[in-house]
Amino acid sequence: MRAFTIEINGKAVTAEAEPRTHLADFLREQRYLTGTHLGCEHGVCGACTVLIDGRPARSCITFALACEGAQVTTIEGLRDDPVMADLREAFSDNHGLQCGFCTPAMLVSCRDVVMRLPEADEARIRLELSGNLCRCTGYGGIVAAVKSVLQTRKAAGARPSAVHDGLGPVGARAPTARQGEQTARTPIAADTPSAAGGRPAAQIRETVTAEQWLAVETDGMELLQSFRVAHPRAQVWRFFEDIEQVARCMPGARLTGPVVDGRGDGEVNVKLGPIVGAFNGTVEVERDEADFSGRVRGAGRDPRSGSSARAIIGHRLEAVDDMATQVQISVKFLLSGPLAQFGRSGLLKDIADHLTQLFAANLEAAMSGKQAATGPDTTLDAATVARAALWRRIRALLARLAFWR
Ligand code: FES
Ligand code: FES
Repeated sequence: MRAFTIEINGKAVTAEAEPRTHLADFLREQRYLTGTHLGCEHGVCGACTVLIDGRPARSCITFALACEGAQVTTIEGLRDDPVMADLREAFSDNHGLQCGFCTPAMLVSCRDVVMRLPEADEARIRLELSGNLCRCTGYGGIVAAVKSVLQTRKAAGARPSAVHDGLGPVGARAPTARQGEQTARTPIAADTPSAAGGRPAAQIRETVTAEQWLAVETDGMELLQSFRVAHPRAQVWRFFEDIEQVARCMPGARLTGPVVDGRGDGEVNVKLGPIVGAFNGTVEVERDEADFSGRVRGAGRDPRSGSSARAIIGHRLEAVDDMATQVQISVKFLLSGPLAQFGRSGLLKDIADHLTQLFAANLEAAMSGKQAATGPDTTLDAATVARAALWRRIRALLARLAFWR
């Protein structure tokens, strides 16, 4: 558990949370703010939407600790808000809800539309609400409710009162991060100018202290993966010696310079919904010939989204027999900045599973002298991976239900 301070519905709160506790669980279980609902817990359905620093954000994929110093507003905190009062009435008049499960988060998002986009037409309202799913209403009543509140406010001469200044989640601007800590509020380095196309003009030498690496070891999220390749261990070990070859097998990753004395520059391109990140940084490679194991430490920063990542990737090769090798991988990492909200463990596990499959297939292909399925310049579209994983789960659930019928 770690202590942190946060403002919830206008009140300063000092609380404790595990590094992996997401904001929705924290709000519901520690603060009893059960108006924040949980649906998919994958950042897809929008049922958990709250305001962080005044902007809608998915609390199911935002760590509570990452909100240190942020202002969080839940549906309960908007009880006396005049726009919310108008929306509640309009929802009632226009049959904007049935079961009500999506309604608290839908109201939060609708309020954001009303305050930010006074000229929004129906198409724009539908687009803005596309991140909030409703299984009951067909959306017609909800859209009509928003339109009616917009008309009323326009007639009263109301002006827009909330302007978002960028894509992605919130809370990334206040410089309150503690060293080595997972946070959505790490300041963005000013020494990272972007070239056209969003890529940094120069390599970023991320200086990571021993204390920060220790934080990755102790507080980082750990993912364990394992896969088998149909090649002898000695051959796989030789392949792993060439870090450039290994990087080519990883979708979205590439080395941007030679590895000298076990240290080099690299880049990882990742896309998460509206957030596109190009993490530039350094990698350090260590190998232990005695037990066929190794370790890669990587640290990178994406100047465009203001996110940074540190990871320690360990691998060990185990001989299955003369012709096959089991590769054991452990990844420990810390994310900070806007991309940290995608640190929800289930989501990352799905992404890691998918990545491992791609990596293993590419490794197998490369070692067999075949063309890799994904090229080194591919951007890892993690949101697509997560959605695909969610649908796999839903299909599996439906299959189980059909079996028991
Ligand atoms: S519970 Fe579905 S987006 Fe958070
Ligand atoms: S009213 Fe039932 S999910 Fe929207």
